[in-house]
Amino acid sequence: FGRFLIWSPRLSSTQDLIAKNFSELPIGAVCVADIQFKGRGRSRNVWESPAGCLLFSFTLQMDDGRILPLLQYVVSLAVVEALKDVCDSKGFPYLDLKIKWPNDLYLNGLKVGGVLCTSTYSSKKFNVSAGIGLNVNNEKPTTCLNAELQKLTSGACQLERENVLAAFFKRFESFFDTFSNQGFQALEELYYKAWLHSGQRVLIQEDKEGQLLEHAVTIQGLTPSGYLLAIGEDNQFYELHPDGNSFDF
Ligand code: BTN
Repeated sequence: FGRFLIWSPRLSSTQDLIAKNFSELPIGAVCVADIQFKGRGRSRNVWESPAGCLLFSFTLQMDDGRILPLLQYVVSLAVVEALKDVCDSKGFPYLDLKIKWPNDLYLNGLKVGGVLCTSTYSSKKFNVSAGIGLNVNNEKPTTCLNAELQKLTSGACQLERENVLAAFFKRFESFFDTFSNQGFQALEELYYKAWLHSGQRVLIQEDKEGQLLEHAVTIQGLTPSGYLLAIGEDNQFYELHPDGNSFDF
């Protein structure tokens, strides 16, 4: 990954550039922007992309569509572990980045990053565009990694976006290899350490023939196909699709 790299000081969206030009780009191509003026989040949300935010997308191919929904979790995990690697290598205090299902990155209760994976199917392959936005040095719209790091070190430590980007691909290459050869199971233990939800009780909403039903459930984990598994007070299991459901926590 990253041997073919496009950088732009200002772009509509790295995700759009990668997705629209997928067939012309090598697998593993990366697009990085300093600012996006049409940054996209999941579910048609806008991703605010000011200077200081690490903004990038890359191309990837997968054969097995059944495990495609799990890829976004591998990407999120690589961000979490990459950040630890950078902090370790620089002797910085550890930032406790957490994953909120399906793929939001949280620090001290505030969203500081997100992952977006989109795909198309052609010639028996899934062509995936994976995009990451991480507030490294931009305090808007929430907070950023450097603001939190500076609080811990009275301004002595500062992360650079380039280091986080390089560490991400190092981690992701290794995780993607494990994921492709051994499945998500091999990464699950590490993933759940960064997960916000183990044993969490939440309210979910179900649309049953136009009627909105609410259920109090306890989150169990992920299913092998990447859904969220929860158990209701009535002992009924609920499987929530990453693109179809959300809940408050
Ligand atoms: C989300 O939290 O909803 C996902 C946000 C993903 C944002 C990144 S920034 C780089 C890439 N380009 C985009 O337009 N979106 C993704």
